[in-house]
Amino acid sequence: MNAQNTPALDEFLIQCQQRVEQSLRTVLSQSIPSSKLMEAMRYACLDGGKRIRPVLVYASAQAVDAKSEDADAAAVAVELIHSYSLVHDDLPAMDDDDLRRGKASAHRAFDEATAILVGDALQALAFQCLANQNNSLEPAAKLQMTTLLAEAAGAFGMTGGQSLDLEASGTDIDLSALETLHRLKTGALIKASVKMGAICNPQCSEEQLQALERYAENIGLAFQVQDDILDEISDTATLGKPQGSDRAQAKATYVSLLGLEKAKAKASELANNAAKSLEGFSSSANSLRDLTTYIINRIH
Ligand code: IPE
Ligand code: IPE
Ligand code: MG
Ligand code: MG
Ligand code: MG
Repeated sequence: MNAQNTPALDEFLIQCQQRVEQSLRTVLSQSIPSSKLMEAMRYACLDGGKRIRPVLVYASAQAVDAKSEDADAAAVAVELIHSYSLVHDDLPAMDDDDLRRGKASAHRAFDEATAILVGDALQALAFQCLANQNNSLEPAAKLQMTTLLAEAAGAFGMTGGQSLDLEASGTDIDLSALETLHRLKTGALIKASVKMGAICNPQCSEEQLQALERYAENIGLAFQVQDDILDEISDTATLGKPQGSDRAQAKATYVSLLGLEKAKAKASELANNAAKSLEGFSSSANSLRDLTTYIINRIH
């Protein structure tokens, strides 16, 4: 939470966080053959994280006057994918980070093989949640959500971006290549979150969908620019993950390419663009509006 948040946003964040926490606890309390694996899955997903992607699912559903109940499955599914991506991102073969969400990374708390399997299992569980969702949505909407999340999580989205990120480490890439990488590794899941929220109202117009897509593209990139900034200027205790990891790994980031001040200006510009794309919406989109400033002012 940030000092600059409106009281309404703080309340909304808490509500959404509690809601997704409850769903996560439910799906992660099932009995599975390996209790060690379930323990590690719970460790990676519960009690930590800002839950910003579920928050975006709910905020987008609210913007189009959809019911939160219809957004629950998408919210939990995207958080499962995101949590898996963090477990794998921290592995020695990737960013080699030992701290995540204020505690030992999964491969440290358990072991590397278990951390790999946690990712595999969380990814599959996310799609199980979408396939089994029990709400008022039509099968077509459920299928649309599944396709969206699959594209955003896999080679066309987050995983593709992570691959570009690893290839770019220690090399000189230009700003347009970095933008592509960021849009994929982080922007794709954020965009899918917003779009899945919109799908919760089958009457959502094409115009509204396009506006929400522009919103999501802008905040998706802004989110990773701010993550790059925080890696440079914050501290490990506040971040709950190792500060300076990007520099240590010679990662291409907005700070390494543009410098700190220009990176901050870029984040603001993107947040402003995101807010502008919501001009056609009523006050139902106020949570989405408030989230634009939250994303670039957050401290972790
Ligand atoms: C961290 O994401 C990884 C990025 C894609 C930038 P978050 O900043 O949303 O991490 P949590 O979920 O709050 O821990
Ligand atoms: C991660 O980017 C993007 C993911 C898909 C997980 P980073 O490597 O910058 O994320 P952090 O800083 O470790 O959270
Ligand atoms: Mg990384
Ligand atoms: Mg990382
Ligand atoms: Mg980072």
